[in-house]
Amino acid sequence: MTDELYFSTIDVTTNILPAKHYNAYYNVLKDKLGQNVLDHIRGRAICSVVSEVILTKTLYIKPKRILEIGRFRGFSMGMFKYFFPDSEIVSVDIEMHPEVNLIMELLGKIELIHGTSDDLPEGRYDCVLIDGEHSYDGALKDWNNVKGKINKNGIVIFDNVAMACGQVFYDIASENKYKCELYIEDDDMHCGCVTYE
Ligand SMILES: C[S@@+](CC[C@H](N)C(=O)[O-])C[C@H]1O[C@@H](n2cnc3c(N)ncnc32)[C@H](O)[C@@H]1O
Repeated sequence: MTDELYFSTIDVTTNILPAKHYNAYYNVLKDKLGQNVLDHIRGRAICSVVSEVILTKTLYIKPKRILEIGRFRGFSMGMFKYFFPDSEIVSVDIEMHPEVNLIMELLGKIELIHGTSDDLPEGRYDCVLIDGEHSYDGALKDWNNVKGKINKNGIVIFDNVAMACGQVFYDIASENKYKCELYIEDDDMHCGCVTYE
């Protein structure tokens, strides 16, 4: 972590929670798919706090085009589709999990890319979730591939900032070029958000 803080720290317990949007989506999946299938799909998915941070930010900016890097079994992909049914959603992963089809049958089609952020289609984004490879080099590659493609007021969310990939977020913050916020709960660092003001 950097010695000097270039980002603001936001306590999710007072600013973000309760996770009412996340809970609404979770309950729809539970009703339609059942608890066991939902638990399976959630596997390594973003947690309720990160989901709610993303939704708090994106419901405000009303994103027209969304990118997620790291789809896994489709939980976060479906969350974007559920809240933004008319937005274009691009979802990138090196793996193809069949459970993704269950989510699309329920919520609608999404553009799936089998590959990495090196394989992005043309165009710009209002919201990007970086949740693929959590190494420093992996997240840096993702950032380098998206940083020139974000619209004004758009956001880039880094999940798992407590891992090696978090250093990419701190390095961006130290540039003092973007508004950077670290979302924490007790000592748990949930995610970093970079906003293009
Ligand atoms: C933590 S999971 C993503 C969870 C998903 N965002 C959710 O909340 O439901 C990470 C995913 O990233 C994928 N992944 C790993 N390295 C990647 C890379 N370089 N590019 C794209 N995806 C990658 C893995 O295959 C895995 O499915």
